[in-house]
Amino acid sequence: MKVKKAVIPAAGWGTRMLPVTKSVPKELLYLAGKPVLQYIIEEAVASGIEDILIITNRGKSAIDDYFDYHPDLEGKLANSGKAKELAQVHNPADLANFYFIRQKEAKGLGHAVGKARGFVGNEPFAVLLGDDIMQAETPVLRQLIDAAERYEASALGVQKVSDQALSRYSSVKVEPLEEKVFRATDMIEKPGPGQAFSNYAILGRYVLTPDVFDIIENLKPGYGGEIQLTDALQQLCLRSPMVAVDFEGRRYDTGNPIGFLEATLEFSARDPETGPWLEAYLKERAGQK
Ligand code: UTP
Repeated sequence: MKVKKAVIPAAGWGTRMLPVTKSVPKELLYLAGKPVLQYIIEEAVASGIEDILIITNRGKSAIDDYFDYHPDLEGKLANSGKAKELAQVHNPADLANFYFIRQKEAKGLGHAVGKARGFVGNEPFAVLLGDDIMQAETPVLRQLIDAAERYEASALGVQKVSDQALSRYSSVKVEPLEEKVFRATDMIEKPGPGQAFSNYAILGRYVLTPDVFDIIENLKPGYGGEIQLTDALQQLCLRSPMVAVDFEGRRYDTGNPIGFLEATLEFSARDPETGPWLEAYLKERAGQK
């Protein structure tokens, strides 16, 4: 099994980040030096992905523009000798082969992934959520692809979350296979009290086999009236092997204000250009209390 294609759903409303998401895609918000989405694409590329389909909507064409050249601006930067800025503007377009499709109605994550059928064809493919950034020594998607290849299976990125947090995620029923890798045998989206299978929650990364598309096409709306990817995966794991990988690394949900702030602080602290300033600022603030 070789995984060379990735799908990034980025067509959600971003209601937790309003009002800015009324006209600015949350995936392009500036986070410690570059847009959120660029971190996710860099992870995909570092994991061996070559072709990337980004699922957008009519309010998000700025995403297509970002992963394109900008001859006017590049010419101006070249003429004024701004080599660093020129590279920053030019290089994102060359990270991968980019494809774009619109989800004409935001009917849910499963519905968005269903739009990728023509792009994916008959190969296994990766899904990376457009607002979840991962920081890990080995890229998280690479960890999933390795397990998917080893077991000839679909793979879910999971980590343990607290009982209180579980109702915001999908809970997976797992059976141990090896350290950090489980067989996934069932799952539920946003479990209510007493409904969770385990504290392992799916966190923003998947490797899927193309048989998921037939399932999505026949899926009824689930939690929140949306076509849920988890409902499709629940059926997929009954038909074909699926593993859950308790990945090494940290996930930042940049789709909510606290997660966005956490990622901004964490990445700014590590950046040699901003880290020393941030440390001094936080110390000064702590001293004022
Ligand atoms: P989220 O629930 O995190 O995104 O979906 P959202 O719907 O934009 O967020 P809120 O709740 O309104 O704040 C997870 C991922 O699925 C995509 C989102 O863009 C995000 O990357 N998504 C969700 C779609 O592409 N289409 C949809 O219909 C729903």
